[in-house]
Amino acid sequence: MVRKGTQIGLAAGLVVLMAAPVYAGISPKFLIERKGCLSCHSLLGKGGRMGPPLQSTPAWSDPDRMFKYIQDPKSVNPKSIMPKVRLKEAEIQAIVDYLQTFKKDAKAPKGWKPK
Ligand code: HEC
Repeated sequence: MVRKGTQIGLAAGLVVLMAAPVYAGISPKFLIERKGCLSCHSLLGKGGRMGPPLQSTPAWSDPDRMFKYIQDPKSVNPKSIMPKVRLKEAEIQAIVDYLQTFKKDAKAPKGWKPK
């Protein structure tokens, strides 16, 4: 027989565990899929070819530039053809943090010149 205190502790632990994915909040991969980024960009080989592969972008785009670019592409590059996608700042930050995890292996596509 498990003691009552332990039972309550276990139950509380379970509730926290089940609630965690909700509060952990924003999934950057989900956003990238749901917000249309993949109609122009690929992510790990899946998606469009109009823009550079997303995992290559940290090669030239530091977190600051990347944040501004996703928030309002023309504010960084007046000639950008990337649309302004409606995202909350926290969502942009989650995408930036996620994409920056590829920095170590990131290489700009051949012949790519960031504007
Ligand atoms: C209509 C096509 C299109 C869509 C949709 C799009 N992009 Fe882009 N994106 C581009 C193109 C093209 C470039 C390269 C130059 C430019 O801006 O024209 C680019 C550039 C970028 C860069 C490089 C920024 C830099 O510093 O040079 C990042 C990062 C990026 N896009 C992320 C995203 C994310 C995240 C989304 C979804 C929220 C998205 N893009 C949606 C076309 C698109």
